[in-house]
Formats: sequence, structure tokens, C-alpha cells
Amino acid sequence: MSLLIVGCGFLGEQVAAIAANAGLSLALTTRSAERAATLAARFGPTVSTINFETDDAAARLAEAAPDASHALVLLTPSACLDATGQPAPLRRVMQGLAALPRLSRAVLSSSTAVYGERHGQTVTADSRCAPVGAREQRLALIEDHWLTVPTQRVVRLAGLYGPGRIVGATGLRQGQPVDGSPDAWLNLIHVSDAAGLLLRCLYADAARVELGADGMPVRRGIYYGWLAAQLGLRPPVFSGAPAARGGASRRCDPGPTIARTAWRPMFRDFRAGLTAAGLPARR
Ligand SMILES: NC(=O)c1ccc[n+]([C@@H]2O[C@H](COP(=O)([O-])OP(=O)(O)OC[C@H]3O[C@@H](n4cnc5c(N)ncnc54)[C@H](OP(=O)(O)O)[C@@H]3O)[C@@H](O)[C@H]2O)c1
Repeated sequence: MSLLIVGCGFLGEQVAAIAANAGLSLALTTRSAERAATLAARFGPTVSTINFETDDAAARLAEAAPDASHALVLLTPSACLDATGQPAPLRRVMQGLAALPRLSRAVLSSSTAVYGERHGQTVTADSRCAPVGAREQRLALIEDHWLTVPTQRVVRLAGLYGPGRIVGATGLRQGQPVDGSPDAWLNLIHVSDAAGLLLRCLYADAARVELGADGMPVRRGIYYGWLAAQLGLRPPVFSGAPAARGGASRRCDPGPTIARTAWRPMFRDFRAGLTAAGLPARR
């Protein structure tokens, strides 16, 4: 079993660690030489530096992992689209994957932001998207393009957190007010749970679209208040301005995904996951 991870950043490194422990052989790509050196120090020499904005990226991807049997594409949305908003970089990824003779399945990570504002309603992997805003439309374009290949799948992830990345912590520490409504629902998933789901969707009987979240949505006011207290900071102030991202209100239910894949989050909610992620204790 040989796993190719395209765009091995915060999430990809978690996947790579799990896969390496399980004895899978790995091929990893990242854009910067600095990041490639970090990955090579941890996972060995099978790291390639590929920028999908460049014309030769498809050929370089095919050369990077000639034996790959499975692939995870974990690029950020901005890495999938060119300056005009067209999915040319993603097309290069797909061309590179199409040239791999042993590849049986490829999964793309997307975001639950694609569901848009749902006024607190529950969404699952099977819910329809009605992308209205620019961000949702970009995500929908990327997913639609990726799903033109019948064997390819999408996993939509809630907000990722884990060691070294805690949603909202930087702004709170800097004393910034929090944009968006305190009553809106926030959906989260620990990065190791997201990594486990992505690997499961490579092998299990997953649907073409699955959803990764801990299934315990929290109101943003509760989350930021708890986080501020844990960090020893004053309670957060909400600015009243719309949030640039993460402000839409919906409740993500991973139930159908759990039923199909037998995946389960290890961290049942943000309190358990953030405590395990090494959140500084209350001062
Ligand atoms: N973070 C979240 O809260 C969240 C929530 C929902 C879904 N997701 C999804 O999860 C996935 C991974 O997120 P992440 O937090 O792990 O992202 P990340 O840490 O920013 O990693 C992104 C990776 O893509 C590479 N990359 C960026 N632009 C590139 C380009 N033009 N060509 C080639 N490679 C490029 C980066 O390389 P360099 O670092 O070397 O530049 C890095 O390896 C994404 O699909 C994201 O949409 C994330």
C-alpha cells in the first residue's frame, strides 16, 4: 500500500504520521522547500516540492509517486484555483493522478463551509449545498470539478484544531474583538480525527461525499468564552461585525458518515480535544 499526500500541511502531517505508524509507504508533496525539509526530517526522503501554479506540476506529480495506490489531496482552496478563479491548479493535480498506473482511489479534503448559512439547521454529508457566498461558490466549484472523475471522493471537514493550532486563540491573545454572532453554531474536529476519517474514506465503503465533524456543535459565544477562560484572558467581546469566515450558523452531523465508514471521532467535543491538544491550563 503506497499513499500519496498532495499538500502535506497541518492536516497532511497528521495523516502521514498515522499512515507511517501503520506501515504504509509514503510520498508527500508540499510547495515550499522549507516545509519539504521539515517533512523529510520526519518522514524520510520521499518528499517532493511541487507548486500547482506551474505548468509542469502534473508531470512532476506523476514522477513523484509512480507506485501510489491511494492519494489524499489536502490542498487549501486557494491552491486549487488560479488568479482568475478557475481550477487550473486542481486540473494539474488530476492530470498527475490520472497518470499513476496503480492508483485506485483519491480523496479531496473540502470544508463544511460549502453548506453556507443554514440559520442553525442541521446538515449531513447528504445535505444539498446551496452555495451563495463567494467562498462557498469557490468550494463548490472545486468539489464539482474533482467529482467529474467517478472514483474520486470528497470529505468536507469542520474547523480543524490540534497541537499548535487552536481556533481563535491568536485573536483572543491579542485582545481583538470576535467578529460574527455569539449565537451562531461552530463546528470543529480534532486534526487527528480528521486524519483518521480521510484514511478511512480511502478504504471503507464511503459515499462520494462524506462529512467530518465531532458532532457536538457549540455556540460561538460558549466556545470563545471557554477558550478565553482557559487561556487566563478576560471574557471575549463580540464586535457585531460579520465574520470573514466561520460565522455561518449550521450544525454539522457526521451521523450518516459514521454509519457508512464506521469511523468515530476520538475527541467527542472541543473541550476534550483542546485539553488533549495541550491548551495552557487556566491561570
Ligand atoms: N484549517 C481548517 O480549519 C480547515 C477546515 C476545513 C477544511 N480544511 C481543509 O483541510 C485541508 C488542509 O488544511 P491544512 O490546514 O492542513 O492546510 P495547510 O496547513 O495550509 O497545508 C496546505 C498544504 O498545501 C500546500 N500548498 C499550498 N499552496 C500550494 C500550491 N499552489 N501548490 C502546491 N502546494 C500548495 C502547502 O505547502 P506549503 O506549506 O509548502 O506552502 C501545504 O503543504 C484543506 O483542503 C482545507 O480546505 C481545513
